[in-house]
Amino acid sequence: MIIIGSSNGNVGIASGWAILQAGGSALDAVEAATRLVEDNPDDHSVGYGGYPNLLGDVELDASIMDGTTLRAGAVGALRGYRYAITVARRVMDDLPHVFLVGDGAMRFAAELGLKRENLLTPEAEQTWRAGIEGREMIDWHGVPELVATLLQRSATLTKDPEHVTGTVNFIAQDSCGRIASAVSTSGWAWKYPGRLGDSPIIGGGNYADDRYGAAACTGWGEAAVRMATARSVVLYLKMGYPLEEACREAFRDLAPIMRGTPNAMSLVAIDRHGNHCAMTTAEERTYVYQADGMGTFAELPRLLFRIE
Ligand code: GLY
Repeated sequence: MIIIGSSNGNVGIASGWAILQAGGSALDAVEAATRLVEDNPDDHSVGYGGYPNLLGDVELDASIMDGTTLRAGAVGALRGYRYAITVARRVMDDLPHVFLVGDGAMRFAAELGLKRENLLTPEAEQTWRAGIEGREMIDWHGVPELVATLLQRSATLTKDPEHVTGTVNFIAQDSCGRIASAVSTSGWAWKYPGRLGDSPIIGGGNYADDRYGAAACTGWGEAAVRMATARSVVLYLKMGYPLEEACREAFRDLAPIMRGTPNAMSLVAIDRHGNHCAMTTAEERTYVYQADGMGTFAELPRLLFRIE
């Protein structure tokens, strides 16, 4: 058994591991672990307390994949419900669909009986206001010209490296060998409203297949979408690459579009044997994992892949 995730998963990984140890499923483990990160108001890249879009609305994206059945569920631009991962899971479990966005995702969350709430914490709001300082914040929604001007600025603001990283992901393999993966995010801070990154894109930021392994990304979502990075890792595993080399090959694929940008990409991955790998293009990034024989989870440095 193993569970692995991004470093901000440190608040949830023990809960996922407890489920695995009790004989629970990989799917339940990654969902439970993710929910605890979505609860964390100090994490401004996920769930409650996430940084909002340019208009001050927190929009959440999430996806979950069952590597046994290859079923998947995803939500995008979900507002007002912190447990985006649970809405994604229920899309997978309850609907004949894979992906709900915007109003439809909110409607579905309401039908599930989930609590509707304001996800914008005072701290996140303060940072958002500071991020677009010098602009009149009141009545944005009623002043299209001003909104248009501000939205043009979003291209610059969303490149702010302090605010573009984040997102949580988990991959688990349970005692039956089943693999599942989950990703949840509030996306780029000050993003254009309706922007989706890789986190809810099956194949982009998230992919799992018991026969080969799984991968999940954090970082510059647009790049992982363009290169289908999570699916690429799993395909390279299918082609017989060892796990670390499969990850390197996916990063080589990313290099042409990442070269010369200030953006970073990170991923976690496992193969079907339960080996794991965590790789990044940025210095000093860590990940968390726990596997059989470990009394608690470990936080370790990721392998560095230099984009040259
Ligand atoms: N990787 C998360 C995002 O780009 O939204």
